[in-house]
Amino acid sequence: MRVVSGIQPTGNLHLGNYLGAIVKWVAMQDEGECLFFLADLHAITAYNDPDALAASVRAMAAALIASGVDPERAILFKQSMVTAHAELAWLLNCSARMGWLNRMTQFKEKSGKDREGASVGLFAYPVLQAADVLVYRATHVPVGDDQKQHIELARDIALKFNTDFDVDLFVPPEPFIGGPAARVMSLRDGRAKMSKSDPSDMSRINLADSDDVIAQKIRKAKTDAEPLPERVEELDARPEAKNLVNVFAALDRRTPAAVLADYAGQGFGAFKLALTELAVATLAPIRTELTGLLADSGEIDYILAKGAEKAAELARPVLDGAYVALGLKGR
Ligand code: TRP
Repeated sequence: MRVVSGIQPTGNLHLGNYLGAIVKWVAMQDEGECLFFLADLHAITAYNDPDALAASVRAMAAALIASGVDPERAILFKQSMVTAHAELAWLLNCSARMGWLNRMTQFKEKSGKDREGASVGLFAYPVLQAADVLVYRATHVPVGDDQKQHIELARDIALKFNTDFDVDLFVPPEPFIGGPAARVMSLRDGRAKMSKSDPSDMSRINLADSDDVIAQKIRKAKTDAEPLPERVEELDARPEAKNLVNVFAALDRRTPAAVLADYAGQGFGAFKLALTELAVATLAPIRTELTGLLADSGEIDYILAKGAEKAAELARPVLDGAYVALGLKGR
């Protein structure tokens, strides 16, 4: 089992990133060989201030390590430092079909009405993502639901390349979806994903938030006037209540049904206090470690450089295999 996943560097990590992606990454370190990277080449498909991007990469790396990604057990690196990703992406651009990419819903969402003004990089984004996983012959790719289509595309690209050039080079990867909370919603609107781009900071809990701020955000989190229900299905029409129960369950590593068994029939008062306690117990140690790491950017750079070295070594033979298969090398 080889696990590969990337995350776009955004300065400000929040509970949604933590419960959605990072917890899963941390758990997978026990299951197989893991490669995790900061997807800075993906980040530049839209304009990013260069200094802010460099800072975000370090901040995100620190947050991952503080959250339990262990550079001794997993290979943690910055995507652009392993040039095989960009090289293979070019080769795969020639296998991927326009029609396949035209169907990618994320491109449609991100380019919106200004499709003509989107970068070519944004259009080819999923091909780079395919290169990210195929270059390591990843078997499992932990991702959120919104990335499933991209992993399916990576499968199609792998199969087409193998068939066109009559090789057995690429391993079609499996998306690995699910895990604890998976989808954490805004504290102000249970129908919107918790996001760093939401203008209201009250909508999210940041990994850098103090205990008091966490308590305040949970106290003010939107709910409804009904008591908590007995059954999970009864939460379906109550997105804010459902979100808080899901977050509670994820933090406490229980099922939402088990949480409801404790709180059914009650209002949100005691529930929110318990939720605050859980959130603080999880996030306070992460924040402490994060603060320490952020004070030593040399250490972060060193870890990422070491990781890149190891990753490059694993990528080399597969990239070479692609060059040979295409007739660019060795014949
Ligand atoms: N596109 C992914 C996201 O936005 C990030 C990513 C880039 C990724 N390359 C990857 C995820 C390779 C898994 C595998 O979440």
